[in-house]
Amino acid sequence: MIKKNIKNDFPIFLNYVKKYPGKELLYLDNSATTLKPQVVIDAITKYYNSYSANVHRGDYKIAYKTDLLFKAARITIAEFINADFEELFFTSGATASVNQIVNMLEEQFHEGDEIITTYSEHSSLVAPLIALSNRRNLKMRYLKLDDNFRVNLKTVQAATNEKTKLIAIAQMTNTIGDIRPIKEICDFARKNKIMTLIDGTQSAPHMKVDVKDLMVDFFVFSAHKMLGPTGIGATYYNQKLFPKLKISNLGGGAVYQIKGDLITFKDSPYCFEAGTPNIAGIIGFATAVKYLTEIGMSSIWEHDQELKRYTIEQLTKLKKVKIYNPDNLSGIILFNVEKVFPQDVASQLSNEGICIRSGDHCAKTLPLIIKEKAYLRLSTYVYNTKSDIDKVVKAIANGGDFLDGFFTV
Ligand code: ALA
Repeated sequence: MIKKNIKNDFPIFLNYVKKYPGKELLYLDNSATTLKPQVVIDAITKYYNSYSANVHRGDYKIAYKTDLLFKAARITIAEFINADFEELFFTSGATASVNQIVNMLEEQFHEGDEIITTYSEHSSLVAPLIALSNRRNLKMRYLKLDDNFRVNLKTVQAATNEKTKLIAIAQMTNTIGDIRPIKEICDFARKNKIMTLIDGTQSAPHMKVDVKDLMVDFFVFSAHKMLGPTGIGATYYNQKLFPKLKISNLGGGAVYQIKGDLITFKDSPYCFEAGTPNIAGIIGFATAVKYLTEIGMSSIWEHDQELKRYTIEQLTKLKKVKIYNPDNLSGIILFNVEKVFPQDVASQLSNEGICIRSGDHCAKTLPLIIKEKAYLRLSTYVYNTKSDIDKVVKAIANGGDFLDGFFTV
């Protein structure tokens, strides 16, 4: 259940009013990053203030305490997506996760092999794959999307052949906000010995994810999009693929022994985590996951849906607003205001304390599908309310001087 006064858990709202008297923070850029509740900030501060030791190395009290918290954090985050402890390793975020997976799998790819993806993916997913494809002479195959820019199993099946090695797509895209039938796609992929790499950056914060039920091979997500700190994320991998992974990040923490030229590694997940990890970040990540779990992922999903319906209803009253994804599930709304640069709209709204993103949203190939160079994106989360939406819609409708000519409600 989302409590009515949830904004009180997030100190930034009050701090904003203190800094800009008479203004209110209307934060609707949650697909870019989310705000942090006090409990997450406190957990991070407590680590630095009270025990602050490294992990897996110290034989003293505060190191022991850090080890316990670190282990507990991994259990919390793994359970959140129904992964086993050994199947979840930490990275600096989903981008690093994708790069690490691609590097570890590189030798599995041979000239002519194919990778299936779409033009609506985030650059963090496709750029490492394009680079891999260039290095290994692979073929990138982009799926045909339906009229609502969605992926369905049939198009995946149609794009697959005996050369297909990997299907790499987001569960929920950060622009169109469509949710893909990942379970069906992964089931099909497994039956055809195709690996799956699923970008869960947008989905994990907003819906219940069960990696075992979905049957994914790799699933990546970032803490900062789910109320956690920046600079920390996680990779789930299906342990059956362990023999295919060539450990690519080498260093202390991952290495078990070095004898002459021979390096042997620790067991999973430690073999994937060379170097001192982002301990404070991981503790903050787990605290965010506990906070979300207390609210309940189904309540978060329903809240997103309700706000999405309401926002679409209100925004469609503005004649000059074009919404690109009114029917896609998720709290992401991609739109433009006729004849006004998206960046101008975003800057104008900023005067009202409104934060929405404009630009290409790191989805560099999206213009191949939606024929625009830039878009506005409004994305909601647990602390947003219908009243936030009313204020944003009113601000768009009223516009500033430069928007005035374009609107009638
Ligand atoms: N991936 C983030 C976004 O979609 C930064 O805005």
